[in-house]
Amino acid sequence: MTALNRQQGAGPAIPCRDGTLPSAVTLHESAPGKLNLTLDVLGRRADGYHELEMVMISVSLRDSLTLALGTGKPWSVSCDRPGIPAGPDNLCWKAAAAYCEAAGVDPQGLSIHIKKNIPAQAGMAGGSSDAAAVLRALNRHYRGFSWEELRTLGLRVGSDVPYCLFGGVALARGRGELLTRLPELPGELCFVLAKPEFSASTPALFRAIDEARLGETACPAPGQADGQSPSPQPQPHAAAMIAAIEAQDRNAIGTALQNDFEPLVARQFPIVERLRQIMLAHEAVGARLTGTGSVVFGLFCSQFKAAAAAMELREHCPEVHLVKAVSA
Ligand code: C5P
Repeated sequence: MTALNRQQGAGPAIPCRDGTLPSAVTLHESAPGKLNLTLDVLGRRADGYHELEMVMISVSLRDSLTLALGTGKPWSVSCDRPGIPAGPDNLCWKAAAAYCEAAGVDPQGLSIHIKKNIPAQAGMAGGSSDAAAVLRALNRHYRGFSWEELRTLGLRVGSDVPYCLFGGVALARGRGELLTRLPELPGELCFVLAKPEFSASTPALFRAIDEARLGETACPAPGQADGQSPSPQPQPHAAAMIAAIEAQDRNAIGTALQNDFEPLVARQFPIVERLRQIMLAHEAVGARLTGTGSVVFGLFCSQFKAAAAAMELREHCPEVHLVKAVSA
């Protein structure tokens, strides 16, 4: 990775009266949430991560980020929603620190403010999408890294960050960083998202899958799935979803929805199945958990039916949204 070293040799800038530096810049970036149309855990790798295969989409529910560079003050991360880590534990901070270190730049003070719309602890990659937005914004400003370099940086921050940088309809493999563009979904499809109050631990769910599969054949070692070797064909669930998308067949897309975590999560939290049944009763063509939850989404061919489902879901769930798929 090439360091940019843009600011090397520059002396310390003299702050303005309000404490900001003359070179202060404000950057805006939006961060869409994601849904898993399919999620297969293929097996545990020698590095402790899991080999995944997922068909992912970006949706119109977005966070908005404002980055101020050259504040002349210590770094800060803030969010309009309580409960989101502020400071070095926030993925946005980690992304900015990784970027500045790799690029050899010092923004001379950085503040990041997140306006949150994506539910947290929901399986919608809200934190990862915010981190990806920070990498995109900084990279636009410093005109730094290629896509490959940015993807490598993103993966250091979290497994979902490369997809969030890529966006749109995609097949994600490996840890989630081996990405293939897929065709757009049929335009008329809309999604209802229902966010129940529980949250499940992602590492614990991966462990539960490992325990349930003890004795099964191990998956390829990371070296075989690092993007250097020829891509294997997608497994049956992803292949069925890709075929349904290519055929623009809305019912087949609904039928092909799949998530390996759903049976485990639904066993622990019966509300998952209740929400799915409400969606299906309103003629969703399919309904599933996204990621490790807790959001359950339904896929509808009619805006009217989606709205009716949303109304009933609000009686069971604190947070319900109607969204569309969005392009990269
Ligand atoms: O990469 P990230 O920090 O988002 O991953 C969170 C946790 O999810 C990891 O610590 C690991 O337990 C699990 N994980 C995994 N395999 C992946 C992605 C995540 O085991 N491909």
